[in-house]
Amino acid sequence: MPALSQCDTLIRQAQVINGASLQMTIADVAIRGERIVAVGPALAMQARTAIAADGLTLTPGFIDTHTHDDTSVIEAPEMLPKITQGVTTVIAGNCGISAAPVTLRGAPPDPMNLLGGASLFRYPRFAAYVAAVNRAQPAVNVAALVGHTALRANHLDRLDRPALPREIAAMRAQLQEALDHGALGLSTGLAYANARAATAREVLALLRPVAAAGGVYATHLRSEAHAILDALREACELGRAANVPVVVSHLKCAGVDNWGRAEEVLAFLGPARAGQPIAWDCYPYAASSSTLDLGQVDERVRITITWSEPHPEVAGRTLARIAELWNLPQMDAARQLQPAGAIYHGMSEQDMRRFLQHPATMIGSDGLPHDPRPHPRLWGAFPRVLGRYCRRERLFSLPQAIRKMTWLPARQFGLHHRGAVRAGYFADLVLFDADRILDAATFTRSQRPARGIEAVWVNGVQTYGRGGMTGHRRGRFLPRAPIQWTQ
Ligand code: ZN
Ligand code: CU
Repeated sequence: MPALSQCDTLIRQAQVINGASLQMTIADVAIRGERIVAVGPALAMQARTAIAADGLTLTPGFIDTHTHDDTSVIEAPEMLPKITQGVTTVIAGNCGISAAPVTLRGAPPDPMNLLGGASLFRYPRFAAYVAAVNRAQPAVNVAALVGHTALRANHLDRLDRPALPREIAAMRAQLQEALDHGALGLSTGLAYANARAATAREVLALLRPVAAAGGVYATHLRSEAHAILDALREACELGRAANVPVVVSHLKCAGVDNWGRAEEVLAFLGPARAGQPIAWDCYPYAASSSTLDLGQVDERVRITITWSEPHPEVAGRTLARIAELWNLPQMDAARQLQPAGAIYHGMSEQDMRRFLQHPATMIGSDGLPHDPRPHPRLWGAFPRVLGRYCRRERLFSLPQAIRKMTWLPARQFGLHHRGAVRAGYFADLVLFDADRILDAATFTRSQRPARGIEAVWVNGVQTYGRGGMTGHRRGRFLPRAPIQWTQ
């Protein structure tokens, strides 16, 4: 086949894990233009660039299923925290918050402030956001959900009440515009004060156009603590009633009183999954991070303040220490710190491992790129799964780990021709040293690139390598495509 004899890049003799299967094979992978054109044991092809990859592992680029990278893909298009982990696609717009479609009146309401200050919300229409992403040409591909809290903030005068029928109609029209321009679906964050008053009916009304468009529903559950099973039931019922696939975000049992409940949660999700399309993601840490929530202040949990608008000087200290310095109960100190960001060491490592280990669990970092002292998951989630939980602790095999970060998310979010190393697929690839790969970001030094990533290609172009960024960025906005659900 003479048409196949030339390619742009030939990666030779890597241990290839294709994402879709649990096999590992030594193979050559050829890239031409944006796509993989051939995969085989020994390809007889001429290449402009040939890479000897003996001893290294080549897999599909990682898909970060849960991000808050909405504005960073435009403001910091090199996307260093992600590309240095081997991430080639991010899903933005999670937890009910998105950069678009948004028209603010004043400061972004909690937790939309996690996406940045008011000046970064410049996209009253989703189409404008898509254009801005493509103009910025980020290092990674971007697919995006529309946040329910963002829609509420556009149309409700106050967020502590359910939306009125005319407000629901207005939110729906905006959501429709977004779906028409390729939004993946809707996300909600019903645990947050600014969305909590929304009824299931309000959400269901918004899921109708999502279902009609073939989109997905991502939910930061109404409760991840005591009432988690009720919250899961609500999410499943919404999915069934609207006939949309559900993705449960950052699956966890939060709060000391709920430690040890992972089995109970999985015992609910297992049978639920047999009856309807339901998926979930998880990050590999026993600490969460978000804005400072008074509902999660608990003297038994170590809480680190990462930023505070009225008291920037205390950032990096624990709430316990601040309360001691101020001679106040922690709850009163927390009130004075608002608005603020926090890391909560409020999960059991055992529960987190159980969730991580489940074969249906996808990996999502939930990293917060605008946090001045971010939780280490922003820079470390994927290498940590591979180095700590796969290689060292053997929670799963390497191909199983790769599947969680490539094939599964590509199926569950409808990212066509991504998530596998196959001829015809987009050449989103990562080459790494499976014996060395490890996160370097810690809770004290959280902005450090991982070790062991050798090279990353996005849409056929090498973007990152041993020498750092190559200077070529080829990411783009990925519009929604029909979802081919994988059980
Ligand atoms: Zn969330
Ligand atoms: Cu999130």
